[in-house]
Amino acid sequence: MINIPFFSKSPGTSLGIDIGTSSIKFVEIAGGSSATLENYGEVFMRDFVGEAPVKDTEGSLLYSNEEISEALKYLLKEAGVKNKKAYFSIPDFVSFFTSFNLPPMKKEEVGSAVQFHSRQYIPLPISEVVLDWFLAEGEEGKEMKINLVAVPKEVVEQYQDIARLCGMEISALEGEMFAVVRAFTRDTEEKTAIVDIGEQSTLLTVSEKGILRTTHSLEIAGNMLVKQLAKAAKIEYNEAKKVMMEYGIEEETVRKITSNLATSLFSEISRAIRTVESKEGKEVKRVIIAGGFSLLPGVVDYAKDALDKEVITKNCFEGIKYPETLEEDLKEISPSHAIALGMALGGIEKGE
Ligand SMILES: Nc1ncnc2c1ncn2[C@@H]1O[C@H](COP(=O)(O)OP(=O)(O)OP(=O)(O)O)[C@@H](O)[C@H]1O
Ligand SMILES: [Mg+2]
Repeated sequence: MINIPFFSKSPGTSLGIDIGTSSIKFVEIAGGSSATLENYGEVFMRDFVGEAPVKDTEGSLLYSNEEISEALKYLLKEAGVKNKKAYFSIPDFVSFFTSFNLPPMKKEEVGSAVQFHSRQYIPLPISEVVLDWFLAEGEEGKEMKINLVAVPKEVVEQYQDIARLCGMEISALEGEMFAVVRAFTRDTEEKTAIVDIGEQSTLLTVSEKGILRTTHSLEIAGNMLVKQLAKAAKIEYNEAKKVMMEYGIEEETVRKITSNLATSLFSEISRAIRTVESKEGKEVKRVIIAGGFSLLPGVVDYAKDALDKEVITKNCFEGIKYPETLEEDLKEISPSHAIALGMALGGIEKGE
């Protein structure tokens, strides 16, 4: 996690916030090792500030800082969240993840070795990024595997600006790949792949013993399918999005129009999983499908057919205390709120 100076743990609850392209989600939990769910919620940017300008936005958030902060402020106020400090996830498409091995060395040497190695792996000048890294495997005096995320300083500043505009403080920032792994596989030993299909990007992560092993960012995500539908049906993008949200890829016509993209997406996922398997000499046991796009009718079934693996959806809130009456709701929102939950769980781990 990237600590923001003057970090101090907020009393009581841990608040995780995921600012996505399509919606902002938050999860608030309380307690130590046996966490209790306090609150959660989501606001769709479309409902709040109107439809997003349709543009290709590689590597940036779609809405302005002002629009995002207005929506976030509204969401937290409506939900009655009192906590003014939060753990924010950073989208994979604005950060760079890499992992590499370091030869045996003393603990105090690791920091500068990581800095040194980073230059090789990060496609931006080191002076322009904030590095977040941790030891994924090994120990002092033995070979070590380092997981590293570099976040452009500009992005960190953008989050600081959003928090300031909301009258909030950032407890820490963290790449969403760590959050999604924590949310879904914190108690899972087996090698597991998680596919988070969002609006702007699809994130594939592979974890083992609950620790992130690799990530892949895939270009095909929800908005590409919507664009394709809009073009083929000669309708506005926003109209196509409504059709897509209602019928998903189950409906015959939509399925036909989008099937080449859906096929490419899942064959890319399959290929990436096979690459990890052959590199690590170990089979990925199952694939968890997540992200808001997986909530569309037909997507999970499509994944089940397309991937030669056990494919499941999972309630990431399992193991956290919550009223039984919420069970069905939580199962339903699990795919879209997993990153926010992972951030909140990270906050609790950090506070302990
Ligand atoms: N409950 C739902 N039912 C149907 N579709 C949904 C639902 N929730 C989200 N979606 C659709 O899933 C898509 C992706 O949602 P998601 O919340 O994962 O995106 P995001 O996190 O905002 O985007 P990104 O991570 O790419 O920045 C959106 O296009 C949205 O319309
Ligand atoms: Mg997302």
